[in-house]
Amino acid sequence: MDLKSTLKLNDGNEIPLLGFGVFRAAEGEETYQAVIKALDIGYRHLDTAMIYGNEVSVGKALYDSGLKRQEVFVTTKLWNDDVRKGNIRSALEASLARLKLDYIDLYLIHWPADGYVKAYLEMIKLKEEGLIKSIGVSNFHEHHLNDIFKATDVCPAVDQIECHPHLPQHKLIKFCADKGIAVEAWSPLGGQRSQGALINDPLILKIADKYGKSGAQVLIRWQLQRGVIVLPKSVHAQRIEQNAQVFDFSLDSEDLELIETLNNGQRYGSDPETFDF
Ligand code: A2P
Repeated sequence: MDLKSTLKLNDGNEIPLLGFGVFRAAEGEETYQAVIKALDIGYRHLDTAMIYGNEVSVGKALYDSGLKRQEVFVTTKLWNDDVRKGNIRSALEASLARLKLDYIDLYLIHWPADGYVKAYLEMIKLKEEGLIKSIGVSNFHEHHLNDIFKATDVCPAVDQIECHPHLPQHKLIKFCADKGIAVEAWSPLGGQRSQGALINDPLILKIADKYGKSGAQVLIRWQLQRGVIVLPKSVHAQRIEQNAQVFDFSLDSEDLELIETLNNGQRYGSDPETFDF
């Protein structure tokens, strides 16, 4: 396994298992430099969203990297207001324009906002037109996915959910696996709101010590070993590099069991059942 290792999605497309997240990376120099760095050291999967406000810088960095379009997997997301208003095509076209791309590798419904089934049906058409290669959802629970299954037999390729050892999401991941939906982890390090609770957890640090790795690297490696696509975010060059150095060690079964003991159901982001934005 390495930075270019991929997972085959249920539509036949390949997605690199380790992606680079840019949530809370500021539009402009911060995002631009972070993405340039990430691509330079070999990340081949970028994960942004309309609501992050940084698609322009992601697109510019991708262009300036000199990489061929097909070498990099780009995800962006349809925002809730556009789901509610039914502005699916126009929202996608606006993202494409900001990214300066003519297709998106993976387009996700960001949250299960009212109108998500209609939005998904619209996205199927946009995929058929070639504007999107793969379609998926984010923050969807089983019942949201069941609503999609009732409306179409085109299964989402991906569900991107909050996932880390405090919220390992075993049940939802099993449900997705049974349906052939790949799972992506957002906030794999606990995100900014965890204030380092996971990265600096004594047990995680003890395991990290054993392999000569950091807490962040253990958290990323854990997801890779369970087959979950993982999207760590950083705007610091050293951390961007560190978060990619996760292919030269393997957590043993004893450590995997210890990590399970951290499951306390703690969310650091919004709950898909109660989000209010
Ligand atoms: P920064 O961008 O300043 O480096 P997540 O990926 O779970 O959303 O977590 C991202 C948070 O973790 C950000 O606050 C990011 O800060 C921080 N972070 C990312 N990589 C590391 C790392 N290797 N060590 C410590 N903190 C990190």
